[in-house]
Amino acid sequence: MINFKDLGLVNSRELFAKAVKGGYAIPAYNFNNMEQLQAIIQACCESNSPVILQVSSGARKYANQTLLRYMAQGAVEYAKELTNGKGIPIVLHLDHGDTFELCKNCIEYGFSSVMIDGSHHSYEKNIELTRQVVEYAHKYDVTVEGELGVLAGVEDEVSAEEHTYTQPDEVQDFVSKTGVDSLAISIGTSHGAFKFKPGQDPKIRLDILAEIEKRLPGFPIVLHGSSSVPQDIVKIINQYGGKLKDAIGIGEDQLRLAAKSAVCKINIDSDGRLAMTAAIRKVFAEKPEEFDPRKYLGPARDMLKELMIHKNNNVLGSSGHAND
Ligand code: G3H
Ligand code: 13P
Ligand code: ZN
Repeated sequence: MINFKDLGLVNSRELFAKAVKGGYAIPAYNFNNMEQLQAIIQACCESNSPVILQVSSGARKYANQTLLRYMAQGAVEYAKELTNGKGIPIVLHLDHGDTFELCKNCIEYGFSSVMIDGSHHSYEKNIELTRQVVEYAHKYDVTVEGELGVLAGVEDEVSAEEHTYTQPDEVQDFVSKTGVDSLAISIGTSHGAFKFKPGQDPKIRLDILAEIEKRLPGFPIVLHGSSSVPQDIVKIINQYGGKLKDAIGIGEDQLRLAAKSAVCKINIDSDGRLAMTAAIRKVFAEKPEEFDPRKYLGPARDMLKELMIHKNNNVLGSSGHAND
């Protein structure tokens, strides 16, 4: 058993309380490799923002969970190096945990926060599973994110055609019966780069968010599927041989409004994937003679970092809040 505190990590409790009060959201960025992690830490140190490092089941399979844990531990030291020893608050979070065993395993590995995503189960089963994880996690002061409502699109191996919006009438009951520290909700965001069909009004249901906030004043709310799919980045991908047709994301203005309310964690993965792909495609097209991975992964890392600084400054509003 490794306790996250011994690794220099923090759980999300205090960060969320400050974010809700301060009207901003903490960025939750997924990582699977070194370049992504470097970009996240560099961006968050430069913008003086707290950060949630997210590891999905897919990331664990791809990179190996032990390696990812040590990378996060290294990130704590790297952040200190970049900030004259001060560091920034770093949470290591399991994204979309689907079983009690997986959450338990991550907690034993030193994660400071886990998500138990029971949203595909019945309401009763979701409560039972989430409660079981909360009981275990809280023994070690690890914070837990639950989910109510189903996002459209693909979440790991599970996919849903339509959104099932979170019902505001259920949130108080769910939170009190499970004891979760934060709640992910479904209000029209979805995973991936194709969140809306052309011609659809690309709006999220901020009215449902307001209703949920009324039922749970000051309680930390989480938004998944919050990439904005920047069209300038999609354009670069397509200009250099990519084929992304009709990729549409969530408007930054809507996310900014959400971050000013009870939303205190915003999950972004796809935008980072797009940024890295754009940079790599550009190098491959312009310098076909290059074959040193540093020559294309370096620019990919730089583009990702630039994107994250922009998000922290202009979308989440988390910049400058590392030492709140
Ligand atoms: O919610 C999904 C995240 O973007 C992680 O994606 O399962 O492909 O690693 P992944
Ligand atoms: P995006 O696919 O919109 O980046 O969402 C990521 C996410 O919710 C990770 O849990
Ligand atoms: Zn998600």
